[in-house]
Amino acid sequence: MITISNEDNMTLMSRYPDQYFDLAIVDPPYGILNKTKRGGDYKFNMKEYSQWDIKPNQAYFDELFRVSKNQIIWGGNYFGELWLRSEYNKGFIIWDKNQPETLNNFAMAEMAWSSLDKPSKIFRFSVRKNRNKIHPTQKPIELYQWLLKMYAKQGDKILDTHLGSGTLAIACYIAKLELTACEISENYFQQAVEKIQADLPEVSISYPQSGLCLIK
Ligand SMILES: C[S@@+](CC[C@H](N)C(=O)[O-])C[C@H]1O[C@@H](n2cnc3c(N)ncnc32)[C@H](O)[C@@H]1O
Repeated sequence: MITISNEDNMTLMSRYPDQYFDLAIVDPPYGILNKTKRGGDYKFNMKEYSQWDIKPNQAYFDELFRVSKNQIIWGGNYFGELWLRSEYNKGFIIWDKNQPETLNNFAMAEMAWSSLDKPSKIFRFSVRKNRNKIHPTQKPIELYQWLLKMYAKQGDKILDTHLGSGTLAIACYIAKLELTACEISENYFQQAVEKIQADLPEVSISYPQSGLCLIK
């Protein structure tokens, strides 16, 4: 089952006991939009983007590590504090976006820090195949399918504290993994549910209360 709530992730995590989730796969705001010259998909509302592009604080990371046994955290290169949590950081993950070298403002890769004691890995998937985006920082379903295949096992409880477009929810549904996720923006929450419904017409969607969506 996929459970998606429209709320702040600190509120969501406060309801769960220590180590409840097997694996957190999270993609927090990197906090760089207002600081650096970077590429971006300007078909999106950049004012809205700049409002939420605020790096999470230490309390967020403490809570994330409390409720989950393992973590994959996109933007690991922007969160220096993560690298000090352990004596060594073995299992980082790279998404090679197959971006031409000549596009100076666009990153050719994204990095995820992980708590996993596994060899570091590279997933190669062209960013240009990530079509029909509904969110400015949408990660491909294929990337999440690969992460789940490599790092999750049947029966695992997955956590996503920054759902965005809902692509991780789609990958979890296909992989038959239980996901608990939240998104603070009502607009993105609604768009994510609509995308899940469009991409997976067979799902049954219910709203037991406002701002809470169950997908089976
Ligand atoms: C980098 S994007 C995630 C993109 C997502 N991985 C995807 O593939 O579409 C971060 C998302 O976190 C949301 N967000 C920011 N702060 C949040 C918070 N405190 N609680 C829940 N969601 C939050 C933003 O609205 C944004 O949609």
